[in-house]
This record gives sequence, structure tokens and C-alpha cells, in this order.
Amino acid sequence: MSDIGNLIRPLNISGVQLRNNLILAPMAGVTDGPFRLFCSGFGAGLTVSELASSKALLLGNKTTIRMLRFSEQPRPFSVQIFGSNAEEMARAAKKVEEMEVCELIDINMGCPVSKVVKIGAGASLMKTPELASEIIKTVKKAVKLPVTVKCRIGWTESQINVRDFVKMVVDSGAEAVTVHARTREAGYSGIADWGKLKNMQDLCGKVPFIANGDIKSFEDIKKIHEISGAQGFMIGRGAIGNPWIFELIRLSNNSCDSIDISKVEDNLGVFAEQIAPLLNIDTADPAMVTEPCGEMRLAKEENSEVKNAIEKELCFGKKYFPPEKKLEVFREHLLESLIEHGPKGVALFRVHLFAYLRGNRFASSFRREMCSERNPKKVIETGKRFFCGE
Ligand SMILES: Cc1cc2nc3c(=O)[nH]c(=O)nc-3n(C[C@H](O)[C@H](O)[C@H](O)COP(=O)(O)O)c2cc1C
Repeated sequence: MSDIGNLIRPLNISGVQLRNNLILAPMAGVTDGPFRLFCSGFGAGLTVSELASSKALLLGNKTTIRMLRFSEQPRPFSVQIFGSNAEEMARAAKKVEEMEVCELIDINMGCPVSKVVKIGAGASLMKTPELASEIIKTVKKAVKLPVTVKCRIGWTESQINVRDFVKMVVDSGAEAVTVHARTREAGYSGIADWGKLKNMQDLCGKVPFIANGDIKSFEDIKKIHEISGAQGFMIGRGAIGNPWIFELIRLSNNSCDSIDISKVEDNLGVFAEQIAPLLNIDTADPAMVTEPCGEMRLAKEENSEVKNAIEKELCFGKKYFPPEKKLEVFREHLLESLIEHGPKGVALFRVHLFAYLRGNRFASSFRREMCSERNPKKVIETGKRFFCGE
């Protein structure tokens, strides 16, 4: 199989084996236990906690500790900590290790939020590489678990130091490095600057380099891999309201030839609705609908755009594309949120609810209706109306 056809593959981070190299990004207020569970269920090879303050961990803050303990947490799991005091970070990491909740400890060196950078933590550490190095070395000494780092490309557009910084991170002993291809100044706006990740994997040598920023499809993975040589791919916002993205990408990684006929046959409905129009196939002709595979192979040879569309829609469609299936995920996600967070679960689910509703022409009126809704039944009814027009 060509390198491209095999981009999604197992990844080993210092002995921690991930079934694949698709990683759910840490996102405060989003990647709670239930969301991680769904992303993992759809095939993410690793999930990461929301960032946890080293101070709060040491003080035994209940909310922070709870954030890391999730009884159904799929493993391997990475806990991300932040802080700017090396000793404190080391003690916090040790405490996390003793909780036995994860296989990896990630150090946040990319958070742009003022509360975090004000104390010299998060992205601010990109301006103090000596301190960043001391933190990595001290944390590493304190724990047996592999220690990884997540950073940005620099502080501002005129202070891009990602290459030197990543080199320092690797030399200090980090066992994987993730770079979000934006500066602190950019926050989350604009387009991620993948060009700044050029040949990063070469720079990291054997240490896995993980690319992050605006990855939303297998096509994006191909491009970012071509530029950076990354061994792993981290997806954040592309997964919100869209946790099946991991399944879609994994399946898109397979060539059309490796999709077996039974799957194709399972998908005749999807084929008729979604794929046939792309190929200008008349679905009123039963022969065309019952024998789509030949047409697909033909189209694959003729037109790579159509090929990609077929592969994506076909694979995506198999289990998750039908609206009923999306509704099922939406409902189960809300239930998990209620189980995990109690009555607060509805409010905490809102960020996901709005994302699940994205793209529908009635989305804004649904949003208005739902922005203060606390009754889970009403939320589910809204979901039904949205996904299935009920
Ligand atoms: C709501 C939100 C919360 C985030 N929280 C964290 C965090 O706790 N730790 C972290 O390292 N990055 C955090 N990030 C950054 C993401 O991990 C990721 O680097 C960024 O969103 C770019 O990836 P994307 O374009 O795939 O979303 C957060 C991003 C968002 C949107």
C-alpha cells in the first residue's frame, strides 16, 4: 500500500500503543468524558483531557480531579496539565500518575487565554524556552509515564519560533510534540499556517510529531502530512457536533478496492440518495442501483473528485450518515452528559447541541429555542425535528 493509502496507522508513543494516529484535541469545556467516549467510539486513537491546572491539582480541587476521572474513559488517555512552576508541575504530574487514570501526561505550552499566559503558563512558555525546558525535564524526572508537549508556532506573527522551540522540546526529552499551527496572537481565528510545519517530523527525528489546526478531512491530513511528515493528526473543532469524523477519515484512508461488496450493498439507500446524483446515475433504473460497484470503480478511475466523494459518502453513509443515526448519537451523547454531570448535563451539552444543529437552515431558530432549555426531553424533541423533520 502506498504511503498515502496508509496514512492512518497505529502510533507508538514511547511504548504507549495507539490503535491509530487520529487524536482528539484537548478542548476546555468541550472534551469532557462523554464527548471523549463518543470520539473514541468513532475511532479516535487517543483522547486528551481538558487542561488541568497544576495548582488546582495540588490543592485537590474537586472539579479538576473530577475532570480527569471518568469511569468509562477509553484508554489510552492523556491528561494535560498547565502551569509555570517546574516543581509544582512535577508534583501535579506525579499526582496524576498516582491516580492511574492515564497513560500519557501532556504539558500545555499553547493556551492563549489571558488567565493562563498571565502566570507565565500556556503559550507564554514559548517566550521563555529555558523555563519550558526546565519544566519538561523536571516533570519527566518525577513520573514514569511518557511526557508530551503541545505548543503553537509562536507568540506573534513576528515572533515565530516553532522550529527552535520544538527542537528544544525534543532535546529536553518530550516523547511526542503537537503543534497547533497558529500563533498565540491569532488565537483560533484565521487559517492555520501549515507552511510553518514544514518537515517538522524530520526535525523531531524518532519522536512523533503531531500536526494540528484546521484538520477536517482526510484530504487535509494528506496535505498536512505532505508538508510536515507528521506521524499523528490532532482534530479539535472538526469533531464538535461531528464525532464520527474519526470514522470517516479512517474509512477514507482505505482505497475503494478495499471496500467489500457487502458494505456496498448495505449502502444502496445511501448510494441512491447521495452518491448516484454525483455520478449522474439514474436511480430509477434498478440495474444501476443494484450494481453500483462497477460504476463506482469506473468513476474512481475517471475522476478523483468523484472518487473521493464516493469513498467518503459510502463509508460515512454505512453507519452514520443517515439522519436517524445522527439523532441516535445526539440522544446518547445527551444521556451520557446527564449521567456524568447530573442536571447540569443539559447546559454542558449546549456547546455540542449547537454544533450538531450547525448547517441546518433552521439552526438559528433552534438555537434561540434551546439557549436556555433545561429539559432534556425538549432537547431531544428539537433534535428529532432537526435531524428527521419530525
Ligand atoms: C473551546 C476550545 C478549548 C480549547 N482548550 C484547549 C485546552 O484545554 N488545551 C489545549 O492544549 N488546547 C485547547 N484548545 C486548542 C485545541 O486543542 C486545538 O489546538 C485548536 O482548536 C486547533 O485545532 P482545530 O483547528 O482542529 O480546532 C482549545 C480549543 C477550543 C476551540
